[in-house]
Amino acid sequence: GRVAVVMGGSSAEREVSLDSGRNVLTALKARGVDAHAIDGIPALLDALRAGHFARVFNILHGQHGGGEDGVLQGALESLHVPYTGSGVLGSALSMDKTRSKRVWQSLGLPTPKFVALPRGADMHAAAKEIGFPLIVKPACEGSSVGVTRVFEEKDLDAAVALAEKYPGDLLMETLIVGDELTVGMLGRQVLPSIHIVPKGAFYDYNAKYIAEDTRYICPGLEGEAEASLRALSLEAFDALGCFGWGRVDVMRDREGRNWLLEVNTAPGMTSHSLVPKAAAVAGIDYQELCWRVLETSFR
Ligand code: DAL
Ligand code: MG
Repeated sequence: GRVAVVMGGSSAEREVSLDSGRNVLTALKARGVDAHAIDGIPALLDALRAGHFARVFNILHGQHGGGEDGVLQGALESLHVPYTGSGVLGSALSMDKTRSKRVWQSLGLPTPKFVALPRGADMHAAAKEIGFPLIVKPACEGSSVGVTRVFEEKDLDAAVALAEKYPGDLLMETLIVGDELTVGMLGRQVLPSIHIVPKGAFYDYNAKYIAEDTRYICPGLEGEAEASLRALSLEAFDALGCFGWGRVDVMRDREGRNWLLEVNTAPGMTSHSLVPKAAAVAGIDYQELCWRVLETSFR
């Protein structure tokens, strides 16, 4: 039947999602899938009620109108329309980094020390507890929007003001100095890790989508280190109730310890994005990857 590729939406990651979605649409069509672009949740729900589509490829990113936070997943469950990726629980838990971390902590999985900060909380007291350097982020955003690394107390207020531009609570955590790694999940297959080497200080929005000088090393590690990173990532993914496909972001410190940061349940599929790069190293080209993600809706 016809497949709706839902993209765009109204989150802070709208532009990223449109970029991901256009690429996915082109690839699915090339694979012979009767795929059509739909912009945002309201248009999707109208089209589904009118009976236009048999299943949904969800490539919306972010919360609220973003469609990555469980809201869309709940609506699709109630309409009995199959869709790609995680269900309500995994999507909602993964969107909220603070609550993801609490689940991992409760299972003894490593995640950087943190303080959850409701808006208006005493940021300076929290910073004393965490110590510098630290990182301030909106608890429920993606693509590093609103994220700042803070090395000195004098820069804290500006970091908080930036993060507060986005909806929801803030998260303050210990800045792990080391390597940025990410691990893609595709069905039950754990893809090779990627070590991200941004030209600048960290893998921010610019390094993710704009700069052409970010380097990617895949597999990111070798031997036992790679195997244990993949195993940890799968454990973290399962712990949040995620399935289908996704991507686990990890920091590896100078002593070689891995620290879980977050899970993305509808990871980017742009030409700069990570899951396509890891899949390619695993011998899965972009078209095949899109097909395999679509298959995650066959359940
Ligand atoms: N949130 C972006 C899309 C990603 O994780 O790739
Ligand atoms: Mg994310």
